[in-house]
Amino acid sequence: MIVLVGSTGYVGSAFKALLQSKGVEFQTLSGREMASGSKAAFASSLKDMSASFLINCAGYTGKPNVDACELDKGNCLDGNSVLPGLIREVCSDLSIGWGHVSSGCIFGGERPGGGGWKEDDAPNFSFRKPPCSFYSGTKALGEEVLGWRESERDGDWPAWDHEDAPEGYVWRLRIPFNEVDNPRNYLTKVQTYATLLEARNSLSQLEDFVTACWECVAKKVPYGIYNVTNPGSVTTSEVVETIKKLGVNDKQFQFFESEDDFMSKAAKTPRSNCVLDSARLASVGVTMRPVQEALEWSLQNWSRT
Ligand SMILES: NC(=O)c1ccc[n+]([C@@H]2O[C@H](COP(=O)([O-])OP(=O)(O)OC[C@H]3O[C@@H](n4cnc5c(N)ncnc54)[C@H](OP(=O)(O)O)[C@@H]3O)[C@@H](O)[C@H]2O)c1
Repeated sequence: MIVLVGSTGYVGSAFKALLQSKGVEFQTLSGREMASGSKAAFASSLKDMSASFLINCAGYTGKPNVDACELDKGNCLDGNSVLPGLIREVCSDLSIGWGHVSSGCIFGGERPGGGGWKEDDAPNFSFRKPPCSFYSGTKALGEEVLGWRESERDGDWPAWDHEDAPEGYVWRLRIPFNEVDNPRNYLTKVQTYATLLEARNSLSQLEDFVTACWECVAKKVPYGIYNVTNPGSVTTSEVVETIKKLGVNDKQFQFFESEDDFMSKAAKTPRSNCVLDSARLASVGVTMRPVQEALEWSLQNWSRT
């Protein structure tokens, strides 16, 4: 029996739809209830459900954006750092495998020397490597709670190693989008924000993301961290050009002059903009379509609600 934690959220709903479409038997647990309840109550719920694998989509993201996390730090820590630790402990006690939805937002920019950040690179946008947003800090801490640690590497960026052997999957999602107009969808955000920040990012098409995560479970690929992003990266202006090219929106898109301009006019906390390397996922036989193809498909199938 699969147990889905956080099934009411944007990502959890996509997981739920995937499991339903595949006819996989699952039950749901509330992330908020688990985070505020006792370890014993959590363990007892999993035993009652005869859980064999837990998927954690719960977390505290901040609405309408990560600035909100700066004003609700206790809940943000509970959802993103404390809950993963509780899941690790309870699942270890009951010998239940797990997969945890983490985030690529614990990185900024590209890997020193160029290219995307890899899974064994220590985060560079975290409480240990400030400045960062409180949200990103708690997501990196969530990976530490699951056993990952920074360690030095000769002549290279510090490593992100597991203290022992990974006991589950850490799936890093990055800026989800799909074809359904929704305030949580990156493609909706790009079309509705008054002014945009130019940046290069890796992205995750939402249904591709949950499908790839599920394939990790179904194919029993080795436990560990996986950057679950559509291969490649795009800039905000490339996304805008694609929106215009496919006739989805022909408005006059406005851009901030610089990141400083964005920070002074529209944000309370720094944003992560980063490129992730997704080769590890492909190396275990789980493939995702290239990011530009996924973007074009989503925009060609764009549906306004
Ligand atoms: N959306 C993004 O842009 C994005 C990008 C990268 C990574 N992520 C990560 O993906 C995961 C899911 O994000 P989402 O966009 O689906 O978020 P969401 O729509 O806000 O849903 C998250 C779910 O987590 C539970 N939750 C809320 N606050 C909680 C708290 N304080 N403690 C424990 N559980 C709490 C709720 O489920 P219940 O009803 O079950 O309590 C909620 O529906 C998060 O870990 C997030 O960090 C999201």
